[in-house]
Amino acid sequence: MTIVANKTEPIIYELSAPGREGAALPECDVPLTPLPKNTRQDLDLPEVSEVDVVRHFTRLSQKNYCVDLGIYPLGSCTMKYNPKINEEAVKLPGFTTVHPYQDVDDVQGALQLMYELQTMLGEICGLPGVTLQPAAGAQGELAGILIIHAYHKARGETHRKKVLVPDSAHGTNPATSSMSGYQVVQVKSDARGNVDLDELRKLANEETVGLMITNPNTLGLFEEHIREVCQVIHDVGGLVYGDGANLNALVGIVKPGDLGIDILHSNLHKTFSVPHGGGGPGAGAVMVRKDLAQFLPGPIVVKKGKRYEFAMPRKSIGRVKSFYGNFLALVRAYVYVRTIGKENLARVAEDSVINANYLLARLKEVYYAPFGNRVCKHEFVLNGTPFVEKYGVRTLDIAKRIQDYGFYPPTIYFPLTVPECLMIEPTETQSKESLDEFADALLQIAEEARTNPDVLKNAPHTAPVTRLDEVKAAREPVLRYKRQ
Ligand SMILES: Cc1ncc(COP(=O)(O)O)c(C=O)c1O
Repeated sequence: MTIVANKTEPIIYELSAPGREGAALPECDVPLTPLPKNTRQDLDLPEVSEVDVVRHFTRLSQKNYCVDLGIYPLGSCTMKYNPKINEEAVKLPGFTTVHPYQDVDDVQGALQLMYELQTMLGEICGLPGVTLQPAAGAQGELAGILIIHAYHKARGETHRKKVLVPDSAHGTNPATSSMSGYQVVQVKSDARGNVDLDELRKLANEETVGLMITNPNTLGLFEEHIREVCQVIHDVGGLVYGDGANLNALVGIVKPGDLGIDILHSNLHKTFSVPHGGGGPGAGAVMVRKDLAQFLPGPIVVKKGKRYEFAMPRKSIGRVKSFYGNFLALVRAYVYVRTIGKENLARVAEDSVINANYLLARLKEVYYAPFGNRVCKHEFVLNGTPFVEKYGVRTLDIAKRIQDYGFYPPTIYFPLTVPECLMIEPTETQSKESLDEFADALLQIAEEARTNPDVLKNAPHTAPVTRLDEVKAAREPVLRYKRQ
């Protein structure tokens, strides 16, 4: 591959020329009054023409990599293509102009949408109680743990203090448990990447609040003994919280409720194609088994005859967000399910799994795949340690180099249980050609690591900025241009 040297493009201040303007105003026909202090004239603004401004912002917009440009293989984040019909729907005035204080009789359509989305999610997950309030997966987890707390309290079992969390769970699972005031007890995985059942049996007891399990787990593996795992927890009176952020691998095929999961969140901004990234508004709907619905955060939408209303569940843990959740995110998720059709959702899961396994098969001879002997679900992990040992090349270098090939890098150094980890999730929205382009690039990079490791260590070569002090960039970002 030809390495294109970094080309520094002009910053708008560098295009500035005294007196150049973007607008020609008519001759002033009123007396001139000096502007008050600290207005535009005192600011150090660039003096540029309209075309300079347009080119500047167009250039900036093109620096942004996005799902509309190519594969975004960020494992555990399900960066799937976001269908444009979702955006058409959210632009409908009936959705954009509703106000949360409007009388429910004036917004029956919006409530109907929420009610139908609740029903669809309940059916998809096999857990009929649904709240759409949480704004993110992690907030759904908090709501879930608070529901578990309310459940034990209602049974007078306040002595329970420990939440079991497998070491293959997402980091938000132990974080949520400990934020809720519980002790986190880690459960080890076995050699096949499943929860170690013997260890789980030893740890589960009358102090157990429940288990928080990510399935498929962060290794991209389906928990092979999920029913037994749930049984162990139920036998000691605990509840099982399923982290459903990876529902993309199961949707339409497996109902988590049928596996023994009692409570589950789904990141609608992953499985159900709501755009995310950059901290935008998400939606972390929570689904529960029937007897737990009384504890759900509310208000939720109920139907009385032909009329939709908001209602607070009888023993609700309260609100976890103002009003009714991120409504337009819910509209997008609803449109996604309706356009695909509930009966076709299984194709989403099948294709996401096929795509991940195809990539794994193409890469596992060259990159070390610690669980390459198993069929993965929607994502898989690679261990970059052999590259460190043989060529002094780290996973970070591989991830930086992939940018020179025009791709967004995979998730790296997560999960923590896999050293030098690369975590790849292609999603179902990639064609075979785009999977091949990505695999070819990674294989070429592996060859470069062998023959010319420095090209990786100094990558990226095509980005406006190359290696940053990433901690400093996050903690002390310099967001303002300063003239020299
Ligand atoms: C497995 C898993 N669980 C939970 C979360 C948290 O979801 P959110 O980022 O919406 O809070 C994520 C997000 O990356 C995840 O991948």
